[in-house]
Amino acid sequence: MKGVHSSIPDVQLEISLERSAHRAGAERYRVEHVRLEHGQSIHEVLCYANKFPVGTKGCIDKANIKEMVRLFPEGQFVVVTDTPKGEKVIGLALTMRTDYAPSARPLGWLEMIGDLSLAKHDPEGAWLYGVEKAVHPEYQGRGVASALYKAQFALAERLRLKGMYAGGMLKGYESYRERLSVRAYAGKVMRGEVFDPTVSMQMRRGFKPRTVIENYAWDRQADHTGMLIVWERPGAAPAERPASRPEARLQR
Ligand SMILES: CC(C)(COP(=O)(O)OP(=O)(O)OC[C@H]1O[C@@H](n2cnc3c(N)ncnc32)[C@H](O)[C@@H]1OP(=O)(O)O)[C@@H](O)C(=O)NCCC(=O)NCCS
Repeated sequence: MKGVHSSIPDVQLEISLERSAHRAGAERYRVEHVRLEHGQSIHEVLCYANKFPVGTKGCIDKANIKEMVRLFPEGQFVVVTDTPKGEKVIGLALTMRTDYAPSARPLGWLEMIGDLSLAKHDPEGAWLYGVEKAVHPEYQGRGVASALYKAQFALAERLRLKGMYAGGMLKGYESYRERLSVRAYAGKVMRGEVFDPTVSMQMRRGFKPRTVIENYAWDRQADHTGMLIVWERPGAAPAERPASRPEARLQR
């Protein structure tokens, strides 16, 4: 299969954690491609970040990671930092390629990826699709996810893809659920009236919100709802526009 055995260029990103308000000092982290030995740590960081117990079925595990590394090694990233106990995985970004355009009918997460080992990865796909992104709770708010997006955008550049898209989980909805429907909340996030810790951060990183995807993925905090977010690679041929303006689709 094309791309699977190609050599992967190093990810040249080493960022200081010094801007952390909580930890002074010269702790540093690196963005790297996933190796097989990262599998269990990736599962654990996913569980901690999403408040699932470690071992939760349906949360990507080391067997899934092994298959992802076989299928699309260039698309799998971790952030690691050195601790007195050795190297520690503190963040991850998992991706696949797809030809299913973001302007098409939005699909649920599992329908998009096929299974937890990315059965629907298309090695020729024109889009990068964000499968998972998570940062260990102790390391959030220090630019780790931003560094991972930088690595993903650089990959989309290198592969000359049309861009990247994902379903951003509306994690902040849990504080609003007594007052607003999830659609009304999503509209406020889209218009910048409320800050969602996941989707607003993605919008600040250059993604444009397009529409709400109900029942996107199991996630109680987000009422299982995602926001379709799209980043078009500058210089790529213009992508098809969505059929209607996103706000119009939200106000139903
Ligand atoms: C969403 C997530 C990946 C962000 O990771 P992160 O490393 O904390 O993100 P960054 O440090 O790069 O922060 C990005 C921005 O969000 C802001 N931010 C981060 N956490 C915040 C918080 N709790 N409240 C307000 N702002 C916050 C940062 O200040 C930064 O803003 P900036 O635009 O001013 O730079 C991480 O919080 C996480 O793992 N969440 C749980 C899982 C999840 O939601 N995954 C994504 C599913 S789509």
